[in-house]
Amino acid sequence: PLERTLSIVKPDGVQKNLIGEVYRRFEQAGLRIIAARMLHLTQRQAEGFYAVHRERPFFKDLVAYMSSGPVIVQVLEGENAVARNRELMGATDPKKADKGTIRADLAASIEENVVHGSDSVENAANEIAFFFAAADLCPRTR
Ligand code: CMP
Repeated sequence: PLERTLSIVKPDGVQKNLIGEVYRRFEQAGLRIIAARMLHLTQRQAEGFYAVHRERPFFKDLVAYMSSGPVIVQVLEGENAVARNRELMGATDPKKADKGTIRADLAASIEENVVHGSDSVENAANEIAFFFAAADLCPRTR
């Protein structure tokens, strides 16, 4: 099915000048970037975005890291976009990620792992709505 997913190049990815490298991988895989914006998340925004993780031991660190510098957020569209993006990213922990994935190739640690991607179609819809209005999306018409 044609799906949309929310992707973030995290502060470490922007800091290391990896935006183009990550976008190249999305485009090479046939995913289309149909919306994008750069922003520096406040602590409150990071807490809101990751609210599902608020009871986790790593939550405080995660919020500090995600608000430590600018991120670039994009909506990816394509066949099976949610799973496709997760394949491109690899496992959360770069040590466990398959070779050739974004995290195996580019990430420093389980926390500083360069990218975020929605884990289901349902969460993708919520995460897209967190950052974008319907009018911000530019699906290809030709
Ligand atoms: P992400 O896919 O954005 O979802 C939650 C984030 O928390 C994860 O990527 C990591 O950046 C961060 N994180 C830090 N420690 C852990 C951990 N032990 N397990 C899962 N995620 C972690």
